[in-house]
Amino acid sequence: MADASLSVVGAPLRHDSAHLHVAGQARYIDDEPETPDLLHLAFGTSTHARARIVAMDLDAVRAAPGVVAVYTAADVPGANDVSPVAGDDRLLADGEVVWLGQPLFLVAATSRRAARQAARLGRIDYDAQEPILTVEQARAAQSLIEPTQRMARGDAVAALAAAPHRLSGQLAMGGQDHFYLEGQIALARPLEDGQVHVLSSTQHPSEVQHLVAHMLGRSSADVTVEVRRMGGAFGGKESQAALYAAAAALVVHHTGRPAKFRADRDDDMVQTGKRHDFVVDYEVGFDAEGRIAGLCLRLASRCGATVDLSPAINDRAMFHADNAYFLGDVEIVSERLKTNMVSATAFRGFGGPQGMLAIERVMDAVAGHLGRDPLAVRVANLYGPGRDVTPYGMVVADNIAPDLIARLRSDARYDERQAAVARFNAESAILKKGLALTPVKFGISFTTTHLNQAGALLHVYADGSIQINHGGTEMGQGLYTKVAQVVAQAFGVGLDQVRITATRTDKVPNTSATAASSGADLNGMAALDAAETIRARLADFCARTFGCEIDAVVFAGGEVQAGGERMPWATLCRRAHMARISLSATGFYATPDLHYDRAAHQGQPFYYFAYGAALAEVVIDTLTGEHRVLAADILHDCGRSLNPAIDKGQIEGGFLQGQGWLTSEELVWDAAGRLLTHAPSTYKIPTANDRPDHLHVTLWDGANHRPTIHRSKAVGEPPFMLANAVFSALGAAIAATCPEAGWPMLDAPATPERILAALARQRDGVRA
Ligand code: MTE
Ligand code: MOS
Repeated sequence: MADASLSVVGAPLRHDSAHLHVAGQARYIDDEPETPDLLHLAFGTSTHARARIVAMDLDAVRAAPGVVAVYTAADVPGANDVSPVAGDDRLLADGEVVWLGQPLFLVAATSRRAARQAARLGRIDYDAQEPILTVEQARAAQSLIEPTQRMARGDAVAALAAAPHRLSGQLAMGGQDHFYLEGQIALARPLEDGQVHVLSSTQHPSEVQHLVAHMLGRSSADVTVEVRRMGGAFGGKESQAALYAAAAALVVHHTGRPAKFRADRDDDMVQTGKRHDFVVDYEVGFDAEGRIAGLCLRLASRCGATVDLSPAINDRAMFHADNAYFLGDVEIVSERLKTNMVSATAFRGFGGPQGMLAIERVMDAVAGHLGRDPLAVRVANLYGPGRDVTPYGMVVADNIAPDLIARLRSDARYDERQAAVARFNAESAILKKGLALTPVKFGISFTTTHLNQAGALLHVYADGSIQINHGGTEMGQGLYTKVAQVVAQAFGVGLDQVRITATRTDKVPNTSATAASSGADLNGMAALDAAETIRARLADFCARTFGCEIDAVVFAGGEVQAGGERMPWATLCRRAHMARISLSATGFYATPDLHYDRAAHQGQPFYYFAYGAALAEVVIDTLTGEHRVLAADILHDCGRSLNPAIDKGQIEGGFLQGQGWLTSEELVWDAAGRLLTHAPSTYKIPTANDRPDHLHVTLWDGANHRPTIHRSKAVGEPPFMLANAVFSALGAAIAATCPEAGWPMLDAPATPERILAALARQRDGVRA
């Protein structure tokens, strides 16, 4: 038994690499020493969004200074594919290009600059075609990555027709670049006999391993992928890292020299996928209280040129189009449009934010129509007794949303502050304030059931020190720290006894991506499984040595207590080793109780839900369209938090990243399909200055109703959607200029231009 009184789990411990991060000593791939034979890589890319390649003349590229080799699709020995699922992402274009910026050929040179300069010298003849770029063009051409999906219950159309009130409207929301601080990078090195070692900044080492092996025409056993940490990922390295890893491995294969591909920031932004932008059309019927009777939602997203993870992402948008609300008769239709743009990919929330923002707009529009307080409409629609089944047929068994909202409402003084905002707005002609409180309910698990598994490898050394390895990757979210806490707690030792080691495919095989916020849920459990195996062996050894019952052996305070004896942990490990007891074990975990029938869109895709709510207060300048987020009060559910310090960091970071998505981060493509916003000069992420001066984060104190690792809950993605409160508050501020006009038509991101346009429509009484 481990004694919980020595609590490493649940303590607000710092991130295991914090001291290295702040000192610039945390080692990233680009910090690896470079050997003189290292080759640097760059892609030559397409200048058309949709074309047949007629000819490629690469003589000038080959002749450029520093160039060692140039490769095209013809040089790929195995499969020319870097896709996660569908087999449709080419490493190097073969015959046709499907988006502007697509890699055509690969340059290996003695310096990165030489590689990038040479990559521009290719002379490509295209037979260009008209690209499909907009939602309208894709719809007209019926250009889809998969058939349109439908999730429905009851008869939404009939319920709508019978409802006392009806509204319809549209909301468009933009995509988002991940803007991880460390860009895409891979460093591949030759091992003996054709084997390759790849350092990759990836959330998914196993997938990179499999794709590299496949691309080289070798087995997975010939390829080892390693990642100690990423400098941020946010979903952008779930599938996108494979391109760079495969390119580096290809060069190793042909040259026998190590090869590094570090993407330049602008190239990274052009060459890798982003969050899906969505257009939502809604038609809603409701009663005088604002309670929804019938809802038809049409979600359309631009998926880009290939499938990538778009089916699952768009599914998750459908799964979250209810958010915390019971939708009785409902129809959710999801169109997955194929466009000649870089393929859209995973981004924190994985479609959830888009689905959730849609229903939050419906709530606001209903409130605006009825002249009711939006929070009253939200509360009237929450899941509750007898109204507890989602549109996909899952019972909401752990519905804490009503209590959580009520607590935030009172702790953050929603009603008083709403009254104060109304007084301010009555007296202020130019500045207008808005306040909103919105909930989050986010489903935890990969909706593709088989991905919900994890493995761990644990070594206890004879001196008592411990090494833990698991399939999860560290991207700044603190996963390594949390898993180490779990291991330390299991042996009753301090965290300083546990050394966390880089994720490697030769230590733990066949892993899932660290994604869907499930890193700690899955890997924490797998690590605990391994620790319990070793602990049971040690307890058995102690029972025999001290002549007591196994159950009477206690691991706590850095020692073992058994039969009235105490022995330091390190002494025990040494003695167990001398007694020839194995001190190494693997662990495994698979989430129970999951099933989903994708054809019918019915089942139990999630193990549980994570909840939260945020109250945001904003002010807009009606002359310039600028705004500030003045305050945010957040109450968030991490179950029984494994580490409140790290969880609060995730909540703050997620909220700010969501705020960026909804207010300032705007992706602009031109009519040819060229991304114009490919650097921070034109693409505005939030700065420290955009963080509200008042940002108050409180953790909801309650255990997970499911037996997750120490009854904690996943926290990586859900807080992102707390920022919906900012968007609603902006809507409220605009509405305050002319409340009779109802809720404003405001698309995301709410840039100054969009806020000004919304204000003008509001003045003219154009209803949402
Ligand atoms: N936090 C930091 N600092 N950096 C990141 O890249 N990615 C987010 C979230 N928090 C991310 C982050 C995303 S998209 C996910 S899915 C989770 O972390 C993944 O890690 P977890 O499953 O261990 O929470
Ligand atoms: Mo997160 S979008 O699931 O990597």
